[in-house]
Parts: sequence; structure tokens; C-alpha cells
Amino acid sequence: MSIAPRAVLITGANRGLGLEFVRQIVRFSTPPKYLFATCRNPESATSLQEMAKEHSCIKVMKFDVTDHREIQAVCDRTRHLLAEDGLNLIVNNAGITYKKQYLGNLTHSQILEQFDVNVFSPLLITQTFMPLLKLAAQKSPEESMSWRKAAVVNISSILGSIEKNENGGLYPYRASKAALNMVTKTQSIDLRTDGILTVAVHPGWVQTDMGGQSAPVTPTESLKGMLSLFSKLTEDSSGKFFDFNGEILPW
Ligand SMILES: NC(=O)c1ccc[n+]([C@@H]2O[C@H](COP(=O)([O-])OP(=O)(O)OC[C@H]3O[C@@H](n4cnc5c(N)ncnc54)[C@H](OP(=O)(O)O)[C@@H]3O)[C@@H](O)[C@H]2O)c1
Repeated sequence: MSIAPRAVLITGANRGLGLEFVRQIVRFSTPPKYLFATCRNPESATSLQEMAKEHSCIKVMKFDVTDHREIQAVCDRTRHLLAEDGLNLIVNNAGITYKKQYLGNLTHSQILEQFDVNVFSPLLITQTFMPLLKLAAQKSPEESMSWRKAAVVNISSILGSIEKNENGGLYPYRASKAALNMVTKTQSIDLRTDGILTVAVHPGWVQTDMGGQSAPVTPTESLKGMLSLFSKLTEDSSGKFFDFNGEILPW
């Protein structure tokens, strides 16, 4: 891969898909100038910290996405570093699920927690960073929409697809990702005139702590597919739901 967006922010960068995203994007022939790799506990994010020692573009930042007061603080810190140039790409990757979520054992707190991390936080993060995304779109030499100009990628899940729901269960996770899909579509309409592209992406069923070891896709394969997809996104892609291999998924 060749040229990455100039300034990128990712949530949940300490393990799983977020960590693999950082690993692969710094290997671009032109990596980002700023890669804000955010996570809840930077002090225990050993692999991420090791990468940051080797790649000066990686700025590890403490960010619990459910701490809604922290969003503005993180935004202020990135704005300070970015100066006049804005933020080109946000990857709302942090997400949670619980293994057993069937009718009979659901609790209010687990439902709220999953909605908080999986949908309320990505929505509020994008809202808070909107001025920096707009700035990036204005400053970009690229005329058409692209991930290098200004984009929001919401990491969703096929489990949030209403049409593809054949197995039931997992209520809070499915419902929160379906809501994230609606947020994505709505933002794509609201941000289009500012030149900001917005997509939802299913990363595949991947071998991470969330996906488990029997998942068919490795983090390397998932990110290879997603980064290839991101680099091909155009104005027509905005407001769509993609599989990691680039196929369009039904809502
Ligand atoms: N793996 C799959 O098969 C699969 C399939 C479809 C969709 N997805 C989606 O892909 C994304 C990444 O999943 P993954 O497989 O990499 O999961 P994972 O290995 O469980 O990693 C989840 C990441 O989210 C972070 N996170 C959770 N709550 C957070 C919070 N409040 N603030 C900040 N970070 C928080 C975790 O940080 P801590 O280490 O601090 O907990 C961790 O970095 C999620 O949105 C998930 O729903 C995954």
C-alpha cells in the first residue's frame, strides 16, 4: 500500500483489530504523519508502546470512549498537535460484546454498556471531532471524497444487519451495531456537503479476544482487506455498509 491519510485517530488500539490497524498502517510507504492510537490503559498497552518506540508518528493517548468528558480533552490534544491541518480519518473501532445474551438473561446495565461503547460513543466522538474533519476536508488537495481527504469509518458487524439476522440472540450487541449503522447512514447525509465520507464496515469474523480462536479470519487478513477497501472509497461509497473484502452488505 502506498499513501496513508495524513492524520488518523483510532479507538481501542491496544489489542485486536485496533492494534493490527496500527501495525499495518505504519508500514505504508507514506505512513500517517500523526496516528493517534487511543486506548483505555496506555500503561499496559505493551505491544502498542513498542510500536510507538519504532514509529514516531504513533501518539498513544489515554481514551475511555465512554468517558464523554474525555472526548473533548482528547480532541483538544490532537488539535494542538495538528495545528492548522485537521484530522483526515477517524476509525471508531472500540467495541464490546458479551457471550451470553439471550431472552431470559438480559440486564439493563449490560444493554446500556454495549450501547454506550458501540453506538453512543462513536456518535459523540464524530460530533466532537467534526470541526477537525471539516478542516481536513478543506485543506486537502484532493477534490473528491476519499479516506485521505476526510472520513469516518465505523467498525460495525454483520450481526447488526437486520436482513442477515438468521440466528437470533445477542440482542444488545446486534441492536447496538444496527443503531451504529443508522448513525453511519445519517452522518453520511449530514457530512456529505462538507466532503466527509462515512461508512460502516464489518471486519469479518476475526481471531481476536472478541471473535475467539475458531474464527476463520486472522487480524492480518481482516486489516489487509479493510485497508484495501478504505483506499478505494469514493463519494459513491459514503453511507454504505461494507464487508472487509469490499462487498456491500444489506442493512
Ligand atoms: N472480532 C470479530 O470477529 C468482530 C466481528 C465483527 C465486528 N467486530 C468489531 O470490531 C471491533 C474491534 O473488535 P476486536 O475483535 O478487536 O475486539 P477485542 O479484541 O475484544 O478488542 C476490543 C477493543 O475495544 C476496546 N474497548 C472496549 N471498551 C472500550 C472503552 N470503553 N474505551 C476504549 N476502548 C474500549 C478494548 O480495550 P480494552 O483492552 O481496554 O478492553 C479493545 O482495544 C469492535 O467494534 C467489534 O464489535 C469484531
